[in-house]
Amino acid sequence: MTRELKNQPARLLIAVGLTLACGVVLRRPAQAADAPPAEAVILTPRAGPQPRLNGARVFGLRPGHPCLYTVAATGERPMTFSAEGLPAGLALDPCSGRLTGATTERGMFNVRVQARNIRGTAQRALRLVVGDQICLTPPMGWNSWNCFAGAVTAEKVKAAADAMVASGLIQHGWQYINIDDFWQVHRDSTDPTLQGPHRDAQGRILPNPRFPDMKELADYIHSRGLKAGLYSSPGPWTCGGCVASWQHELQDAQSYAAWGFDYLKYDWCSYDDVAPRGKKRTLDDLKKPYLVMRDALRQQPRDIVFSLCQYGMGQVWEWGAAVGGHCWRTTGDITDTWESLSEIGFSQAGHEPFAGPGHWNDPDMLIVGLVGWGPQLHPTRLTPHEQYTHISLWCLLSSPLLIGCDMTRLDEFTLGLLTNDEVLEVNQDPLGRQAARVVQEGEGEVWAKDMEDGSKAVGLFNRGAQETRVRAPWSVLGLQGKHKVRDLWRQRNLGEFDGPFEASVPAHGVVLVRIFKLAS
Ligand code: GAL
Repeated sequence: MTRELKNQPARLLIAVGLTLACGVVLRRPAQAADAPPAEAVILTPRAGPQPRLNGARVFGLRPGHPCLYTVAATGERPMTFSAEGLPAGLALDPCSGRLTGATTERGMFNVRVQARNIRGTAQRALRLVVGDQICLTPPMGWNSWNCFAGAVTAEKVKAAADAMVASGLIQHGWQYINIDDFWQVHRDSTDPTLQGPHRDAQGRILPNPRFPDMKELADYIHSRGLKAGLYSSPGPWTCGGCVASWQHELQDAQSYAAWGFDYLKYDWCSYDDVAPRGKKRTLDDLKKPYLVMRDALRQQPRDIVFSLCQYGMGQVWEWGAAVGGHCWRTTGDITDTWESLSEIGFSQAGHEPFAGPGHWNDPDMLIVGLVGWGPQLHPTRLTPHEQYTHISLWCLLSSPLLIGCDMTRLDEFTLGLLTNDEVLEVNQDPLGRQAARVVQEGEGEVWAKDMEDGSKAVGLFNRGAQETRVRAPWSVLGLQGKHKVRDLWRQRNLGEFDGPFEASVPAHGVVLVRIFKLAS
């Protein structure tokens, strides 16, 4: 990651270990080739000074529950925001672009959002759906596990929230700051910062000394325009051995809501110790703990995204939505190697019928940037091409996007991967389709996803160790005649094609395009 690029000083990465300095300007070189080159080249064009509205174009909330939707917009500051067509009870702050309040009016509201600065005005429709469904686009945010694991603290979480804002990621639609395991007291750790009473006299869960005030932490995250998440398990202990929710589900849901949390990841782990034994586990056994927590969360006066984590047992994609899950892990834990990434990512084929607005397959968190699962961090071991593959595939899959790196030490290459609005739009498309694999030939694969506007997002992947040509014939994409093809990473039109579209794809790399009908 700190590698220098010969003869290309403008493409140098900021050394890993340095805090990203605001205002650092790196020239994004124009690329003539049709695939990302082997070096760590930043393909994402720098956002312009004029306003551009990004992030989710559809947002669901429940009547009467507090709303927080931060309008994401790049462009020069100061910027002012306005919205027309909001239901009673909601208001958009003209300076921060935050939509807050609560409304009891059910229905679909076509809100016209505007962002204005000295360079111009941008407008966009925001579909606000007040009803029973939330999480209408895959959650985008950060989670502490892949970097800090058991070394997480409230300070690190606050620093991640600060960095989400300072790096500008918030202006591309990134929203959640999620604490994973280790905010609770540990079962038997000798580390005093993990010790203490498990629960108070009423049975309410108590955080460990590293998290002195959970409400203050959630308030802090909200004050930055972001949402807060945390983690528990239906068993007595979390996977890391901390106190979990067994027989305290309702009390825990009440605590999460009272503190102001917006997202719960609920991890199976020690539920094995209390789940029915002595017979083959049934589907009902697998569903039960999630139904219990779903009901507890539903009773709270707050929208809380419910993320199931049980590694795909019992084909969870077939019933995750029915037990109230907004997303569910489909596999075991990811790590920062090509083997792990490709095995998990490319095994998602066939899950596409089960994804849609409000319910998403989750092939685990992102492994770009500085990761490490503990106090010692290292730059991801994925090559630049593998990282382009990772983000492209996760966007095509409509997967939750949870950054897993140390946010305070983001380098420019990683930032480029996470701030490409045309790529992120593939993930956040309101239609909510998950890409299907439509070609598998040798090491080449084509994955395609229908977008709401009738266009198709198409990834040409090369799983092999040698550069290869990958073809996307119109017949498998359901297209006929001439179409316009746009390179999404470079945000550049490639011209008109009468099928097929084919490209030379580097080892473990990707070419990600969007194919549009020609205007008639
Ligand atoms: C695992 C889970 C990880 C992380 C970890 C915490 O079971 O898959 O994502 O949450 O537990 O202990």
